[in-house]
Amino acid sequence: MKNTSKMPRANGKISIAPSILSADLYKLGEEVKTVENAGADWLHVDVMDGHFVPNLSFGPAVVSSLNGKTNLPLDVHLMVEEPLLFIEPFAKAGADLLTVHIEAKDDVAFALEQIKNSGVKAGLSIKPDTDPERITPYLDVLDLVLVMSVYPGFGGQAFLPEAEDQIKRVRQIINASGRAIWLETDGGINAQTAPLATRAGADALVAGSAIFKAADPVTALNQIRQAASDI
Ligand code: DX5
Ligand code: ZN
Repeated sequence: MKNTSKMPRANGKISIAPSILSADLYKLGEEVKTVENAGADWLHVDVMDGHFVPNLSFGPAVVSSLNGKTNLPLDVHLMVEEPLLFIEPFAKAGADLLTVHIEAKDDVAFALEQIKNSGVKAGLSIKPDTDPERITPYLDVLDLVLVMSVYPGFGGQAFLPEAEDQIKRVRQIINASGRAIWLETDGGINAQTAPLATRAGADALVAGSAIFKAADPVTALNQIRQAASDI
């Protein structure tokens, strides 16, 4: 299957991925244009099924409504119990990267294989209390590891201090693999916590409320990028 993903390979540059979970959905198109014009690198789409996490969010229809309307690669985070049900629908809808949770029910290797076969990039996410070593068997197929710095389910939570150690350990695992794999951190990222994440080894940052709930999302995004780079 041809790789149709717009997601670039890991390149050492810090990438900022605003999460639309915190956007004003009444004006989602405007919100996406705002962050795109502010220099966002990707758009993070949080998919929640009400089982893996106690919240319900978006389906493939939201991704297909964004597909082709924004130049931002669509970084889709599947917080779902059975990712195998959703890989093809989200790939068809235009996802450029699909991230599944290692803690989900379905077989991880098979889910990652399905993602790659659908022509998009593959990510694997771990919760704050999951042993990072568990990602090791999958490194050969991964384009991204998503280290959660909050327990998944809601935007607006505080960055967990133990996340720094998780990020450091995943960075060591990725570097030891010698593969170009993004290390994305997600949850409670703002201008204060962004440098903690990048100093620990993250090279992609998801920020939802710190951007979309800010009085000036453009300034907020730039402050996060500046803080993340000044380490
Ligand atoms: C949480 C989601 C995060 C969240 C980030 O389950 O995976 O992407 O939306 O939101 P903030 O940046 O507000 O913590
Ligand atoms: Zn997320």
